[in-house]
Amino acid sequence: MSDSSKLPQDLLEAAQRAHQNAYAPYSGFHVGAALRAASGTVYAGANIENASYGLGRCAEQSAVQAMASAGERTFNEIVVYTTAPEPASPCGACRQVMFEFAESATVFLVNDQGVVKPWTVGGLLPGGFKL
Ligand code: THU
Repeated sequence: MSDSSKLPQDLLEAAQRAHQNAYAPYSGFHVGAALRAASGTVYAGANIENASYGLGRCAEQSAVQAMASAGERTFNEIVVYTTAPEPASPCGACRQVMFEFAESATVFLVNDQGVVKPWTVGGLLPGGFKL
């Protein structure tokens, strides 16, 4: 069981590494995310933009897709890292994508200045859609 109040250093470092791989030539806004799946394996992702803007993929979605593509179906915690003055707040689509797999996961929104904002997925998306 993870301590939901403490920023996991390994996830922070994985999110920082993913941040270096962000492909964001259009917005210039680089994001890295890393999550710990139920097995303990860490999956990471970066935002990947496209000349056809609507095809851009957020870092959180990249990380969740990597987890699900590996056959895992839930995660306990996720770190979202930027170098912006305020940690990035996940967009509505990312909230729903995280909600699909991990309503009670802890979400650490962090930046390079040491600001840490802890949430839960359910707290970010009250009443998220379920089938
Ligand atoms: N972005 C993310 O990857 N995650 C967030 O939490 C906020 C926004 C990306 C999408 C786009 O590539 C860029 O940041 C600017 O919106």
